[in-house]
Amino acid sequence: MKIFNFLFSVFIFSSVIFHANAHNVTHDSRSIIIDGNHRIILSGSIHYPRSTAQMWPDLIRKAKEGGLDAVETYVFWNAHEPVRRQYDFSGNLDLVRFLKTIRDEGLYAILRIGPYACAEWNYGGFPMWLHNMPGVSFRTKNDVFMNEMKNFTSLIVDMVKRERLFASQGGHIILAQIENEYGNVMKPYGEDGKSYINWCAQMADSLDIGVPWIMCQQAGAPKPMLETCNGWYCDQYKPKDPNTPKMWTENWTGWFKSWGSADPLRTAEDLAYSVARFFQKGGTLQNYYMYHGGTNFGRTSGGPYMTTTYDYNAPLDEYGNLNQPKWGHLKQLHDVLHSIEYTLTHGDVETQKIDNSVTATIYQTNDKSSCFLSNTNTTTDATVNFGGINYFIPAWSISILPDCREEAYNTAKVYAQTWMMVKKSNKAEDEPSCLKWAWRPELIESASVQGKGDVSVNKIVDQKDMANDASDYLWYMTSVELTKDDLMLNGTVTLRVADTGHVLHAFVNGKYIGSQWAKYGNHVAYVFEKSIKLLPGKNLISLLSVTVGFKNYEAMFDLVGAGIASPVELVLKNAGNETIVKDLSSNKWAYKTGLDGISNKYFDPSKSSPKWVSDQVPINRNFTWYKTTFKAPLGNKPVVVDLLGLGKGMAWVNGHSLGRYWPSYIADKQLCKTKACDYRGRYSDKKCLSKCGEPTQRWYHVPRSFLNDGENTLVLFEEFGGNPSSVQFQTVEVGSVCVNAYQGKVVQLSCNQPPRPAYAL
Ligand code: GAL
Repeated sequence: MKIFNFLFSVFIFSSVIFHANAHNVTHDSRSIIIDGNHRIILSGSIHYPRSTAQMWPDLIRKAKEGGLDAVETYVFWNAHEPVRRQYDFSGNLDLVRFLKTIRDEGLYAILRIGPYACAEWNYGGFPMWLHNMPGVSFRTKNDVFMNEMKNFTSLIVDMVKRERLFASQGGHIILAQIENEYGNVMKPYGEDGKSYINWCAQMADSLDIGVPWIMCQQAGAPKPMLETCNGWYCDQYKPKDPNTPKMWTENWTGWFKSWGSADPLRTAEDLAYSVARFFQKGGTLQNYYMYHGGTNFGRTSGGPYMTTTYDYNAPLDEYGNLNQPKWGHLKQLHDVLHSIEYTLTHGDVETQKIDNSVTATIYQTNDKSSCFLSNTNTTTDATVNFGGINYFIPAWSISILPDCREEAYNTAKVYAQTWMMVKKSNKAEDEPSCLKWAWRPELIESASVQGKGDVSVNKIVDQKDMANDASDYLWYMTSVELTKDDLMLNGTVTLRVADTGHVLHAFVNGKYIGSQWAKYGNHVAYVFEKSIKLLPGKNLISLLSVTVGFKNYEAMFDLVGAGIASPVELVLKNAGNETIVKDLSSNKWAYKTGLDGISNKYFDPSKSSPKWVSDQVPINRNFTWYKTTFKAPLGNKPVVVDLLGLGKGMAWVNGHSLGRYWPSYIADKQLCKTKACDYRGRYSDKKCLSKCGEPTQRWYHVPRSFLNDGENTLVLFEEFGGNPSSVQFQTVEVGSVCVNAYQGKVVQLSCNQPPRPAYAL
């Protein structure tokens, strides 16, 4: 109870400070200086649209409780300006509400406006209408692009200024970001790229926000922008300008997943090591990317092929639970780092090599000193004598001695509790263990049999240009007239379609003939080939292209093709083994965006329709809609729906999109090494993978705020064919808890989030 009261008073105190007058945020080479106080900043990324507004206070409180000073977020342009000059800041897109929630919890905010984000977000955050503006060229010296970028950036800045949220106005936003990792891709843009990044700096500076602007991965960023580092490690990083503090905007706490990839694990030990090493080597600001990853609801996931979960193996899991022991181990680190803030920001620095693998770094002021002892060897533990005391420093670990005598923390000695999360079945009263389904078909006939489109053009058009990202689905339809004596009627004909690497379903004369999609690790163009039967007269060829998130990274990623590419051909092998090719690419093609069920909102329960059938619910039938009702699981634990048995499609609860589902996409068996995961040595996305051979994503988050107390409706659009009979709603809860106990150390064991109370052994 005491601890609780104490926390409560900290919360009250710190939330008040932001209502005072303007705060002065500057820096020197060692610190961020806020109202004259030299600070190190520990921060974490939480992207507001990847959770719900109802989840924000809890997530942010856990970030604060976890020892963070700040929360960072991107601003996703395509979410806020889906149609040019039509803005959406409602519900989970309420940026100001999110920022105020951070403020009210007593934390600083870092606002990464971009507006290019990357972030495994659809098209890196760019709206598709921008791509379709005449004369536009992205991320370079181009008036159309720069005008739009300035328009959106100023809109965000003005919105935030109106609410007086910048520290310079008495608010809590201490830094803002323009562009994102442009330095990584700048070269191919040549001189125009250099002009563009200079323009970004001037434009941002002209917005006069009164706090520093940052540019990540932008060595030698144009003044007055401050450069920062991103990566799994940034200890070796040095800003080009010696007056710029060493800042790390993205410490990747794990990794993202794409369909076919396995579950990432970045160990608590290694993540803590990277942070401690960064501060040992003069770091000033460190931000976890992600602190809470969350969920790519709707069609927000990037591409190609990013999953709906964006858990990231972050300190808070997808649903907002503490990911233990990571969260707890970092909390202890943050507390220790904060306790030595003064020596870190003011002390003289001295480095002493103690033996082959252990180095001591001493931060010394007139009256205090703090030390780091690092063992960078990846295999050999060390016991060293430092100042007359022996210390055991395991391989790949760092000890922090706040007074240069007593070890307060070692990155490889984990005292924080671990817990296993489990899925529990829905115990809501009267809830049948098997859901009762109704179904209806998607009306593919109008497209695949009649070939009717909204637009016709004599060429194959990229899906970005044609569908304007209004839907994943785009029909490409053409016809081929064959006279009775056409050679194509004699011999084997193959339909050959070049695809840019998303999903393709092909139909000939209304009959489904096959599908293809990219394989994990090879998300590039493929060629679909299938032998077909043609008839004399008119033959209809209908291709349904399905995008799975537009590309979000690399130089000129915005131009990477999507949908069907040229050529589309009929290939005849005649009796004499000759090959005759008929290129259909410049035929007349009719285009139709979207699906009937999506345009007519079959997923919206408020639209009652008699067309749902409860009899003979089919299984393994493609292009099928399924609907069921259920009661929400009791209590307040996070809810998931288990979609094992289904193929690929989209899911909605009470009309809210849960995102794309694809449990039939199995995580590549080759990715998981049999060897146990070793925290020692550098982490990468190839290390410590698990759950190979299992569905890439089986469970889908259903935020509590999507649910009603009474009856709830789940609608699935199944594109490939699957079996909904084992679909279940479950809660995610703490299953078992354990902790390593060492004599003289205080450990915590709790099923609460955050854990308390503390027991001394
Ligand atoms: C960075 C990028 C982030 C995110 C990250 C990987 O390059 O700035 O937005 O995409 O990679 O998760």
